[in-house]
Amino acid sequence: MVSLNNLVGLDIKLDENKCSLSFENGVTKREPAIRTIEQMKEVLADDSVSQPEELYYMYRDVFCLKDDAVIKKNKLRFDITIIKPAILGNEFMKTAGHYHPKDYPELYEVVYGEAICLQQRYYENDFRKIKEVVAVKARQGQKIVCLPYFGHILINTGNKPLVTANWVSAEFSSEYELYKKSKGAVYYALSKDKEVSWQKNNFYTEIPQIKFVTPNDQMKEFGLKTGKPMYSLVEDLGKIDFLNHPDKYKYDNVFKK
Ligand SMILES: [Fe+2]
Repeated sequence: MVSLNNLVGLDIKLDENKCSLSFENGVTKREPAIRTIEQMKEVLADDSVSQPEELYYMYRDVFCLKDDAVIKKNKLRFDITIIKPAILGNEFMKTAGHYHPKDYPELYEVVYGEAICLQQRYYENDFRKIKEVVAVKARQGQKIVCLPYFGHILINTGNKPLVTANWVSAEFSSEYELYKKSKGAVYYALSKDKEVSWQKNNFYTEIPQIKFVTPNDQMKEFGLKTGKPMYSLVEDLGKIDFLNHPDKYKYDNVFKK
């Protein structure tokens, strides 16, 4: 068991073999929603892959009981996701992918392991034409802003479970359909000699080059710093007001090239 206490800011332990969490003193006890390979077939580079059966685990609405009221009042939610380390055929393990309605952004933290967050935005009149695609490579402790209007997937490029936390508005439900209709994101992250090789998803009719970036290690305007667990923002949720009022803020400072 690995204690995530200092990494996520909540008294939580990770069982690396089972990819499960246990919640200690004062933290909500949640059961995960499980994403299976069966549910993911439509978005995989190779839809004949059938193992492993379970791919990732979503613990939604996690908090320390004393913080419940202030989180709800700010219309936010804190979730934790565990993504197994595995190669599906020759593709790195990933999440299904979704867009948010309107311009809602999201804020991720890599709690454990390493990740690439692939974000894409389509031209308004055609979801098969991609205007912009950004790959955010992040290591443990870094924060990833999912930009307004961009859909996103998370990819586990490491050899241990990837644990992410996210703050997100509680005011919407994610939209998974466009990723399913498109056979996944605009690029597949394939494993070539253990490195990532990006393969275009030819279901899309317009595919731009990927912009490769990393998170900025300090985003003062949002109270974020690499290595400082972002659950602690529960003391000052005004700092992440951008999650509910995205158009009031600028996002020029969230990545570095
Ligand atoms: Fe999201």
